[in-house]
Amino acid sequence: MLKKIFKWLIVSLLISIVVFASVVASRQNTTYDAPYPTIAISTDSTVLKRGEYLVYGPGHCADCHGKVDMIDAKERGDIVPLEGGFTFILPVGKVHTPNITPDAETGIGKYKTEELARALRYGVKPDGTVLIDFMPFHNTSDEDLSAIFSYLKTMQPVKHKVPEHEWNILGYIVKAFAIKPVGPDGEVLKAIQPDTSIAYGKYLANSVANCRGCHTNRDLKTGAFIGLDFAGGFQMESPLDPANYACVTPNITPDAETGRMIGWTEETFITRFRAGKSIKHSAMPWGPFKRMSDNDLKAIYRYLQTVKPVKNKIDKTLIDLKS
Ligand code: HEC
Ligand code: HEC
Repeated sequence: MLKKIFKWLIVSLLISIVVFASVVASRQNTTYDAPYPTIAISTDSTVLKRGEYLVYGPGHCADCHGKVDMIDAKERGDIVPLEGGFTFILPVGKVHTPNITPDAETGIGKYKTEELARALRYGVKPDGTVLIDFMPFHNTSDEDLSAIFSYLKTMQPVKHKVPEHEWNILGYIVKAFAIKPVGPDGEVLKAIQPDTSIAYGKYLANSVANCRGCHTNRDLKTGAFIGLDFAGGFQMESPLDPANYACVTPNITPDAETGRMIGWTEETFITRFRAGKSIKHSAMPWGPFKRMSDNDLKAIYRYLQTVKPVKNKIDKTLIDLKS
């Protein structure tokens, strides 16, 4: 009798595993619908200049899509080819950044602008599958997306084939059930005045420079925000030596006790950004941020003074994984 029950238990367990595995497999290439934003391409020199500034400055595309071995150039904030190939090692597997030069075969030359704009704004790739939420451009204005894509089109195409992402078992499961396209939060602006206002600072910190995306704790399996905004505590691998070092983002809210920037004036803030990287294993894109104008840094500083103070003590921003 017991033997029989046991046999049936094993059989039903096996059946459940097979059913679960086939559901997971069937959901790997789920496609989603999202609108195609209308983004005009321009050859106007002011637009192209704005595009170059966003791409290599606050938008820091080079930090993830820049040629992998040009470490010093990226740290200086130089204009490097955006041929992709950087690998993020995550609990769910390996994710490789794509080539975003206009090469028709290995880059983004084969896509229409509205397909690429939809990917950045709504998290749906040209083929309809989900784009993992690494980038903060869901609420980037129409005018700035237009500047970014107009500029990318003028770049030298580079033929560089990047491997497909490599998921592990957890990755397949997370991809099947937990990763969904992320879209804009509220209304997307057609354009925004680039002045020193708090509103513009908020736009840069949230929707272009990704201060919020890194300085807020997140679940590394799904990318979901799990901490309070700008309170830090998000741990990420060293871009130079991911096996041995990790860094943790400091709390940049104006909390009087635990905020990293307490006592910093606007001057201190700008001087800190001009100085570039001070911790070798930092994942913060200090190189590209060095290119940011005083105007933009002032706007970000002013905005950060207005965010909700959060008490969250971050003891160390660099972790030696060997010890
Ligand atoms: C923090 C790293 C990071 C930054 C910064 C970043 N990207 Fe990405 N980007 C990625 C990753 C990772 C993917 C692939 C995601 C996926 O396949 O699900 C990607 C995908 C893309 C795609 C889709 C390409 C395709 O073939 O589907 C485009 C377009 C793109 N990025 C443009 C940009 C631009 C433009 C900037 C700067 C304004 C930028 N990225 C900044 C990490 C980044
Ligand atoms: C890719 C992730 C990432 C992004 C994007 C990012 N940071 Fe950071 N930031 C870090 C990490 C990691 C550290 C800790 C290591 C270090 O100090 O360089 C840090 C440190 C800092 C510090 C402390 C520097 C010091 O010397 O004490 C400030 C201030 C700061 N970030 C502000 C910002 C602002 C403002 C933005 C947006 C313009 C931003 N960060 C965007 C990851 C990021």
